[in-house]
Amino acid sequence: MATAQLLAPTPIPDFKSKIAGPLVQFRPLHPTFGAEAVADFTSITPELVAEIKGGLAKMSHLFGDLDDIAPLFDVGNVNPDGTVMQPGGMRDLLLRCNYHFHADSAFNPRRAGISLLLAHELPPPGLGGDTEFADTRSAYAALDEERKEEIKDWVVCNSQLNCRRNANIDENGKLNPLLDTDEFDPMKHRFGKHKLVQTHEPSGRTNLYIAAHAHHVEGMPMEEGQKQLHELLTHAGKPEFTLKVQWKDVGDLVVWDNTCTLHRSVPGQYAGKYKRDLRRTTVHDMSTQAWGLNGEGATWRSGLD
Ligand SMILES: [Fe+2]
Repeated sequence: MATAQLLAPTPIPDFKSKIAGPLVQFRPLHPTFGAEAVADFTSITPELVAEIKGGLAKMSHLFGDLDDIAPLFDVGNVNPDGTVMQPGGMRDLLLRCNYHFHADSAFNPRRAGISLLLAHELPPPGLGGDTEFADTRSAYAALDEERKEEIKDWVVCNSQLNCRRNANIDENGKLNPLLDTDEFDPMKHRFGKHKLVQTHEPSGRTNLYIAAHAHHVEGMPMEEGQKQLHELLTHAGKPEFTLKVQWKDVGDLVVWDNTCTLHRSVPGQYAGKYKRDLRRTTVHDMSTQAWGLNGEGATWRSGLD
């Protein structure tokens, strides 16, 4: 028996009874989002997939077209030669962005919908390496009405480089020189533009689409926009909106909806010593807001244009 964690359920009181089927048992993990699905994943049948989709549909859109990253995208700390990645190298610096709450592909013209993350190899228990999630629909709902009115039409300009740079600023506010180049300057590249406040179509609830990629607010003075985005991202990451998933066994799978949750990797003592080999696959958002304000069919990629 393996388990899968599904992130993004609507908060219905009898959640378990509504989505449990003969092949999958669901156990809620948090008052507003997240459930553990226990099933025999050694034999993936159409019936099992239908039940998983049924559970996720209570929370999110059905799986869609694959995003154009590698079908199994390695987000762990294992080098191509199989050794454990050491802190301080360029790959480590770039992956530090994963320690901050984000939504996959928010920086691309077409954002990500569902992501699936599979445990291939895990560090020993107790040495960290959990994955944490945030419920951004509940974070939006908790804002006061004045704030909701203020932010309702804001357009956020997202850049992967913004997250990568911010993840490498030291306690004195100094950017690591390795990233202090035009190549890593968000202003020298295109932004993925998405509305901050939007309807999460599968649930009909309003979502706060904010992530560590959020660089500035269109039409707002740079510094003011960055201050506002920082405040909203900090709000979304408050403990009452978050859930930490502990990886237990190789084969554990976590599935989440990027259009209504954030996620981040939690640093741990395993770094530099033990492998944390997680492999991700992601599908495009299939909602009407997938392309944001970037123009449907755009092919540029953040930081690669
Ligand atoms: Fe991610």
